Amino acid sequence: MQEYSLYVHKIPVGVLGASGYAGRELCALILGHPRLSLAFASANAQRGEHFHAAGSSITFAAPEDVALASAELVFSALPHGASADWVARTREAGARAVDLSADLRIGNGASDVPYGLTEVARAEVTGAQVIANPGCYPTATLIAILPLLEAGLVVAGSTISISAASGVTGAGMAPRTDLLFGEVTENFKAYGVANEHRHLREMRAMVARTGADVDLLFTPHLLPVARGILATILVPLSAPLADPLAPLRARWKGERFIEVSAEPPALRDVVHRNVVRLSARMAAHVRTPTLQVFAAIDNLVKGAAGQALQNANLALGLAEDAGLPA
Ligand SMILES: NC(=O)c1ccc[n+]([C@@H]2O[C@H](COP(=O)([O-])OP(=O)(O)OC[C@H]3O[C@@H](n4cnc5c(N)ncnc54)[C@H](OP(=O)(O)O)[C@@H]3O)[C@@H](O)[C@H]2O)c1
Repeated sequence: MQEYSLYVHKIPVGVLGASGYAGRELCALILGHPRLSLAFASANAQRGEHFHAAGSSITFAAPEDVALASAELVFSALPHGASADWVARTREAGARAVDLSADLRIGNGASDVPYGLTEVARAEVTGAQVIANPGCYPTATLIAILPLLEAGLVVAGSTISISAASGVTGAGMAPRTDLLFGEVTENFKAYGVANEHRHLREMRAMVARTGADVDLLFTPHLLPVARGILATILVPLSAPLADPLAPLRARWKGERFIEVSAEPPALRDVVHRNVVRLSARMAAHVRTPTLQVFAAIDNLVKGAAGQALQNANLALGLAEDAGLPA
C-alpha cells in the first residue's frame, strides 16, 4: 500500500501570489497533499527568493515567467484588483482557477462564478472551472448565521450585529505603519468602522439568497496575534430557543470541517486547522430574545488556503478532505 502511493499520479497545480501569507499556506498544503504537486509558485517583489515548506525548497518565479498551462488548476492568491486578470489568463491557458481575492465573489460584480463556501456550495463547486473563494470574516460569519436565517428564526427587519477580531496576517504582507509590531502588540482596536468593510458585500449577497429581511452590522477589530478570527454575533430571534445549539447542529450535521461545541470557541481550538468552530447561547436579561453566536477560524486555513484547497479537491474530483488539516 505504501509503495503503491509512491507511484500515484499527482495533479500539477500552481500558486500565483505564493510569497504572501495565503500563498505560503497554500504551498505548504500542496506539498503535503497526497494527490497534488506544485507546478509553480509566483511572487512579485519577492521573485527569485526561496521559501522552505514541508521539507521542500521553493523558488518564487515572476508571474510572467510561469507556464499557466503546466497546471491543471491555478490558485490565485493575488491582491484584489490584480487577481481577475490572472484568472482570465489561467482560463485561456486551459486550467481551472480558484481565486482567493474578492474580485469574482458574489456581491462584487461577478454573478456566474460559484461562491465557494464549500459546505453551502458543494454541488456548484464540484467539477467547477472557476471558483471564488470566500473572505475570511464572511466564512466565519456565514457559517454561523445561515442556519438561523434559513430556518426562519430571525426577526424580520432586525439587525444582526457581528463584532469580529482578526490576527494581523489577515491584512496581508504589504508593509504598513499601522501593522508594525510596536503599533499592534499590547493593543486592540476597531477598523473599517461605520459598516463599510468590503466583506459586507458578499455577506449581504449570501444573506439575501436566503430570502431573509435583515441588516448586517459588521465591526472588525485588529487582534495582536498572527492568525485567527473570533466573531461574536448577536442575532435577534422571534422566540427564545430551548436548545440554542440545535439549529447549528442540525444544519451542519456530518460536516467534517464545522464543529459545534457547548463552550464558546477559542483561537487555540482552530489555528492551523481547516475548521469553523461554533457555539451559541441565549442572552439573559434582554427584552428581545437574542442569540449570542460565537465563531472561530484560522483566517489563513479555513478562511483562505484550506477552504481554497477544499474547493480545489472538489473541482478536481478528489476527496474533499484530501491534504487538509482537520
Ligand atoms: N490573509 C488572509 O487572511 C486572507 C484571507 C482570505 C482571503 N485573502 C485574500 O487572498 C489574497 C492574498 O492575500 P494575502 O494576505 O496572502 O496577501 P499578501 O500577503 O499581501 O500576498 C500577496 C501576494 O501577491 C503578490 N503580488 C502583489 N501584487 C502583485 C501584482 N501586481 N502582480 C503579481 N503578484 C502580486 C505578492 O508578491 P510579493 O510579496 O512578492 O510582492 C504576494 O505573493 C488577497 O486577495 C486576500 O484578500 C487573504
